[in-house]
Amino acid sequence: MTEGSRPAIVARGVRRAFGQVLAVDHVDMEVRTGSVTALVGPNGSGKTTLLLMLAGLLRPDAGTVEVAGADPASSAVARSAIGWMPDTFGTWDSLTVTEVLTTMAAAYRLPTDLGRARTTELLRLVHLEEFAATPAHALSRGQKQRLGLARALINYPPVLLLDEPASGLDPRSRVDLRVLLRRLAAGGVTVLVSSHVLAELDEMVDDAVFLSRGRTVSSEALLATTTQRRRWRLRSLDAEALQHWAFDHSVTLYPDNDAPVGGTSVLVELADDAAAARLLASAVAAGVPVASLAPVSGLLEQAYMSLDAERR
Ligand SMILES: Nc1ncnc2c1ncn2[C@@H]1O[C@H](COP(=O)(O)OP(=O)(O)O)[C@@H](O)[C@H]1O
Ligand SMILES: [Mg+2]
Repeated sequence: MTEGSRPAIVARGVRRAFGQVLAVDHVDMEVRTGSVTALVGPNGSGKTTLLLMLAGLLRPDAGTVEVAGADPASSAVARSAIGWMPDTFGTWDSLTVTEVLTTMAAAYRLPTDLGRARTTELLRLVHLEEFAATPAHALSRGQKQRLGLARALINYPPVLLLDEPASGLDPRSRVDLRVLLRRLAAGGVTVLVSSHVLAELDEMVDDAVFLSRGRTVSSEALLATTTQRRRWRLRSLDAEALQHWAFDHSVTLYPDNDAPVGGTSVLVELADDAAAARLLASAVAAGVPVASLAPVSGLLEQAYMSLDAERR
């Protein structure tokens, strides 16, 4: 098998308990090299525990984990291939933003000059240049997240493991994160990114691994949830024309409780994009002034909602 086709991350039958709590019950997954893959699941579904095992910081009770071709718990080569961003950071005492990164560079044995250059480069990348001399503990949550991301990148890792990196980020920083992760992936970096907030990931990932109660949800099960009929929001400039057309064509309209203010907004259930195209053509042909027709939520979000029902 060539290096390129080999998955960067493989987990087989992975299990980990903390006392009586079975945090990760059974995880099977493969993450494609050069992909951005979402690790998605409700609170308590085992995301952090799984990522800790993938990062080599926690040993599985059963099963095997492979990152960049080796077991991260025992292989220094695997560990040096990993950039790890935890969901929360320990206190860095009085270290400045710059010192956090140069200290990390030294821990990875980067030559001092290279460590400094990499630090400058990363501070620019995550837009923290103006905070270079600020004590890290004084940063806002979003700024800490960005520093954490820079820290995870210090050693040019080919595999990035990010635990809820978008949490606490403002919208601008989220867009930046998406652009950055896409760019890294385009350069061959494999990114596994967890979140319990689907909207954060829907547009940035190639693949998704769903966790539910410590188990990876089978792709068949997932397919079943994502091929359910989706809800679309239809906005019309003329409520009456809309009602008439719906009546004539036996289209069921559902009330839109989250309707944007102004105009008439209803929900319709559609099987797929083709059904949406037909519905739009029919409404427009009947003279309904349609302002917009769009899915209420992304596919990932819809699949996630079906898992969220079992949150613990
Ligand atoms: N160190 C620990 N000790 C005891 N229970 C833990 C520990 N870490 C996680 N758990 C439990 O394992 C389950 C999964 O937790 P976690 O992996 O943090 O999930 P997630 O990151 O998806 O929210 C939860 O029920 C959590 O309370
Ligand atoms: Mg977590």
